[in-house]
Amino acid sequence: MAFYSELFSVGPLKLLLFSIVSYFIYVHLLKPALHYIYIVIHYHGFHYQPKSFLLGHLRQIWPNFPFSIDRKSLAASIIKQLCKTVGPDPSRSLSVLWISLFPLVCASGHEIVEEILHKKNLRKPRINNFVGLGDGLLISEPALWKVRRKLIEPFFTTRKMRDHVKNMYQEVKSFGKQLDEEVDKPVDLINHIQTSTLNVILKSSAGIPLDDLKEDKEKLVELIAIGERYGVQRMGNPFWHFDWIFNMSTFSKAYYKTIENMKEMAHTIFRKRKQLLQSLPSNQPENQDFLFLIEGKVDDQGLLDEMNTLIAAGHETIELALRWTLFNLGNHLDVQEKLYKEIVQFFPDDTPIDDMDKLKECVYLDQCVKETLRLNPPVWGFARQLEDDIMVKGQRLIKGSIVGIVVEATHHDPKVYPNTKKYDPDRWNPENASKIPKTAFIPFGYGPRMCIGYRYAIIELKIFTIQIIRKFSLRSIRPHGSIPQKAEITLKPVEPLEIIMKPRTTTKLVN
Ligand code: HEM
Repeated sequence: MAFYSELFSVGPLKLLLFSIVSYFIYVHLLKPALHYIYIVIHYHGFHYQPKSFLLGHLRQIWPNFPFSIDRKSLAASIIKQLCKTVGPDPSRSLSVLWISLFPLVCASGHEIVEEILHKKNLRKPRINNFVGLGDGLLISEPALWKVRRKLIEPFFTTRKMRDHVKNMYQEVKSFGKQLDEEVDKPVDLINHIQTSTLNVILKSSAGIPLDDLKEDKEKLVELIAIGERYGVQRMGNPFWHFDWIFNMSTFSKAYYKTIENMKEMAHTIFRKRKQLLQSLPSNQPENQDFLFLIEGKVDDQGLLDEMNTLIAAGHETIELALRWTLFNLGNHLDVQEKLYKEIVQFFPDDTPIDDMDKLKECVYLDQCVKETLRLNPPVWGFARQLEDDIMVKGQRLIKGSIVGIVVEATHHDPKVYPNTKKYDPDRWNPENASKIPKTAFIPFGYGPRMCIGYRYAIIELKIFTIQIIRKFSLRSIRPHGSIPQKAEITLKPVEPLEIIMKPRTTTKLVN
């Protein structure tokens, strides 16, 4: 009583101040806290695996939490726990992974994926920003994304793809020559493939000649890998989602340093490009890189963010898909021989692999690549944050919650893919493929935010595979299905994907 009488006795100024402070406390603390408690109570009604009250599934993922854990074990146990959480059983296709007291709704299965990704008012969660790609297309808020997506789409038209294909083939020729030194011994082509896929994306995005900036490119590969690892480490610790807690950790220093180094590297690429432009006529279509397309339409920071996004999104994903394609072919010699026969029919000897129409005609190659993307999707999952409540299969998902779409589990649904672990490119022949629902195959996502570079990726994968298979026969060292995987942003093999390459004596079809 005394408090109120004092408050009213001091006049309108104090009253105004009190109202403003109360309003801010309500809007920024009380309301979010109440909403969060509501979310937690709500999701306790959903399916989830046994968990501890306070730590949720954190102990299954991170056994000695909060003490440090080697990142390999952390990444491997994330995917193990996710596979336990979601799965082909319909009762598990919408379930909850508890990261301490924070619920992550996990969705899988083509019907649920279709239902969720068709909804409006979905955005990318804030935790995606932790990988340090700024406001690039992969991360950006819906309003900015809409403008930028329109601006960037022309970079992937059929006409522009013809220029990209020329670059890809140029690179593939020197890639093929390097492989001559790797024959007749077990080898994982990771380093060769990393360099080549980076060469290709840097040429198309920033006009950097394929064989230029060698040392910087090596540094860039390393930085992208560290950035991804650190980003995932931050995402995996719910307390580090709050900047003020994270900034107090010792890890934050290394994290911010890496982001700083990535920015510095982007500036180096920019400077190099500027020098090159002075000596090249920019009215030639082949000199018109990605930056040329958006320059003057977005500010300098926007240019950097979009270029970094394209490089990060379009480099490691292709590298993984190509390594798995070779490993799968090396384990299925019958498939490899059938593919070889198709390839030499269209691209014998050293025929340039730059004809888009002929590439389209390699239908069995298409099936082999698709089956790898199903079995070993480079991106194992992606997430959305709900801006409104939505109903999915009769269950309410609450505004503000994060929903993870688990690509890996969706691709292993036995109702759609019988004998799901088998590498079987015939699933994708025209007759069988017509029975597969479109949201049962989502290596590139689905809906408006589907991968903008999916055609670019498929074509690059095809060109590299053709060059390797027409020159070498492959045999994998380890059997199919024996390599465990770990979940960072991408799904990575834990052990090397070794193959032995033997030069083919002729690349002409002998009847
Ligand atoms: C095998 C290779 C690739 C795979 C598996 C892949 C996968 C994906 C997936 C799953 C998404 C959707 C993420 C989401 O919905 O949250 C995505 C988005 C994206 N990808 Fe790819 N990608 C590949 C290659 C590429 C390439 C080559 C580029 C560029 C040259 C690229 C650029 C992007 C961009 C910019 C986005 C964001 C699109 C948007 O939000 O509008 N990707 N990718």
